[in-house]
Amino acid sequence: MKFQILTLFPEMVMQGLNTSIIGRAVENKLIEIDAVNIRDYTLDKHGKVDDYPYGGGAGMLMQAQPVFDAYQAVTKECIKKPRTIYVTPQGKTFNQSMAEEFAKEEELVFLCGHYEGIDQRVLDEIVTDYVSIGDYVLTGGELPAMVMIDAIARLVPGVLHNDISSQTESFYNDLLEYPQYSRPEVWHDKKVPEVLLSGNHKKIAEWRLEQSVALTKERRPDLYKKYDKSMQAFKRLKKQKRKYIHMMEQIAQGRANMLYNKGMDILLMDKLSGIYMMSAESVESAKVMLCESSMDVKIKSGGVLMIVCDPDIKELLVKDYGMETENPCYQACYTSRETLHVRHKDIRPLTLEHKEYVKEHYHSDMKYIEARINAGIMYGAFVDDKLVGFIGGHREGSMGMLFVEESQRRNGIAGSLEAFIINKLLEQGRTPYCHIYEGNIASFKLQEKNGLYLCDEPLWWIWS
Ligand code: ADE
Repeated sequence: MKFQILTLFPEMVMQGLNTSIIGRAVENKLIEIDAVNIRDYTLDKHGKVDDYPYGGGAGMLMQAQPVFDAYQAVTKECIKKPRTIYVTPQGKTFNQSMAEEFAKEEELVFLCGHYEGIDQRVLDEIVTDYVSIGDYVLTGGELPAMVMIDAIARLVPGVLHNDISSQTESFYNDLLEYPQYSRPEVWHDKKVPEVLLSGNHKKIAEWRLEQSVALTKERRPDLYKKYDKSMQAFKRLKKQKRKYIHMMEQIAQGRANMLYNKGMDILLMDKLSGIYMMSAESVESAKVMLCESSMDVKIKSGGVLMIVCDPDIKELLVKDYGMETENPCYQACYTSRETLHVRHKDIRPLTLEHKEYVKEHYHSDMKYIEARINAGIMYGAFVDDKLVGFIGGHREGSMGMLFVEESQRRNGIAGSLEAFIINKLLEQGRTPYCHIYEGNIASFKLQEKNGLYLCDEPLWWIWS
C-alpha cells in the first residue's frame, strides 16, 4: 500500500512515520510512504504558495496552482484516480471503520493544509474525502495525516505481527480494551487478577469481555449502546444457531458492520471481506430492509457478494434484483467447546513457499491463497516432511479449502486437518463452521465424524 503526502513540511511527516512499527513496515516494503513538498511546485519565483483570501478575512490561503501541480506530479502514473484525503477540521470525524475502509485501497493521497486553508477550486477538483481527527483545531494537517496513516497502516496485513489475534478477539470493535498486566505479579501491594494466572483460556476470555463491557458502559456509553444493539441481534439469531452461525460469528468477532437491525430483519457487512449477510422475517420486510439500507442501489450497481439463508429471499434477489447464484450449501457448526483429538501428528501452518502447491489443488486465484496464508489461517498435513494436504479459513470466517492427495486419502488426514483448525479456532474463542455444497457426501460424513451439527435448511452465496 502506498501513502503519498502533499505538505509544506515533508521532513516533519517523514520523521514521524519512519520510526517503530510503521518505520519497520516501510523497511520491509509492506507499505510505502512518500512526502512531497508543495512549495517545490509553485510557479512563483519567490517560492510563495499562499495569498490573501478574496472577500477579506484573517490569515492567508494556500493557492490552487502549487497544490494542483504537486497532486498531478504524484498521481501521473496512477491508473485510476486515487482516493485523496484532505485533512481538515471541517471533515467527517475519523474512526476505526474509516481506517478499515481506507486500508482496502492500494494507494492514498493525503493533502495537508496550512494557514487558513486551501483555495476551494483545487479541492473541488482533487479531493475525494474531507476528514478531521476531532473537534479541535491544529496548526496544520501534518499531525492529523500522521495519525490517520498510522491507524490505516497497522491494518495492512503483516504490519502487526499479531494481526490475526487482533482481528479475532471477541467483540474487539465496539468495546474498549480490557485492562492488561505484566510482571511482577505483585506491585505496590496490588496483585494481578487471579484468573489471568490460571492458564484457562476460556475463563480469561470471559473475564476480559466482562471487563471490556463494564469499562465501555462507564466511559463510552455511546459505544456501549451500539454494542448492546448488536448483542440483541446476536441473541435473536442464536435461537437458530445452525442457520445463522455465520452472522453470529461476524457479530461476536466485532467484524459486523450492522446496516439494518430490526427483529429478524438483519443486514450486516463483514468489515474485513466486504461480504454481506442477511436474514429476513418475510419477503415484504426484506424489501423494506433493502430499500431503507440503500442495499437495493448497491446491488443494482454490481459487485455485491451476499449470503442468504431463506429460499424466498434468494428468489426475490434473483428475480427482482437480478442477482445470480448457484447450488445451495448447507452450514455445519461445531458447538462444543471441547478440543478434538488430532490423529495425524505433522500438521503445521503454511507459508508462502507452499502457495504453488495450494494453487495446483485449490480452484482460486493466487492473490486469495496468498492472503489466506498471510492471515496465518492455512494449515498443511505433512507425511515424511512432504506436504500432502491442507485446510484453511475463508476470508469471511468459515473453514474450507480442504484438500488431501488421492494417495493419502482414507488415512484420517482430512479429519485431522479439520480437527486441527477447529482446535485453533476454539483457542481464539470462535465457533468453527463450514459450508458444504449440496451433494458433497464425503464432506457431510467428515463433518458428522468430527461432531459438527448440520443445518437442515440450505444457504446460498449470491452476487450482483
Ligand atoms: N487541521 C487542523 N486541525 C485539524 C483537525 N482537527 N483534523 C484534521 N485536520 C486538521
